[in-house]
Amino acid sequence: MSNKFDGEHSYDGIDESDNKLPSWWLNIFYVTIIFSIGYMGYYHWGGPGVGLAENFEMQLAQEKLTASAQPPPQTGHSAEEFKAILSDEAIKKKGQALYTTKCAACHGPDGGGTIGPNLTDKFWIHGGKIEQIANTITNGVPAKGMVSWAPLMTKEEIQQVTVYVYSLKGTKPAVGKAPEGNAEE
Ligand code: HEC
Repeated sequence: MSNKFDGEHSYDGIDESDNKLPSWWLNIFYVTIIFSIGYMGYYHWGGPGVGLAENFEMQLAQEKLTASAQPPPQTGHSAEEFKAILSDEAIKKKGQALYTTKCAACHGPDGGGTIGPNLTDKFWIHGGKIEQIANTITNGVPAKGMVSWAPLMTKEEIQQVTVYVYSLKGTKPAVGKAPEGNAEE
């Protein structure tokens, strides 16, 4: 017992002692105080630190940005939207140009089919009605190797290429792939 105060801090015969704290302990204590001031300055008093709440706000803003940059989903083509354009030769020509650059590699230059199925016969895996064809092109069949074209083409382009694909029905390709899917009634 060092630093024993005789009498001054004693009560009922019990002396209060003051043990000097070890300097290693005190030093750690002072360091935590200095650290806490730095911490407050960095994160709370206008420092450059990004706190939890601020971090959350930043992520939220980023999410909103990416969400609004996505192309609007294209689903639910209807038979009506094709009525007026089905026999429009200009639209069919645009569709043919799209078909040649984007589809011919898998469906053959004249729709006879190679990797992808024959588009000229009356057999369809996903339906041969014009709105069904448009939906297959829009959504694709990724598991079977048919690309989902919605993110890659505008709605107009999908309409154009659909009109062209529809016009291939009943034509005679140079080499026709064997039928796949169900026959159309
Ligand atoms: C990478 C190869 C590939 C490309 C490129 C491709 N397709 Fe396909 N397509 C396929 C395959 C494979 C299928 C068969 C999917 C299945 O078995 O369900 C298919 C299916 C289809 C079908 C449905 C046929 C049916 O019997 O129901 C249509 C319509 C079609 N593709 C149109 C297109 C159009 C239009 C393009 C160009 C914009 C295109 N495809 C580009 C591979 C491709």
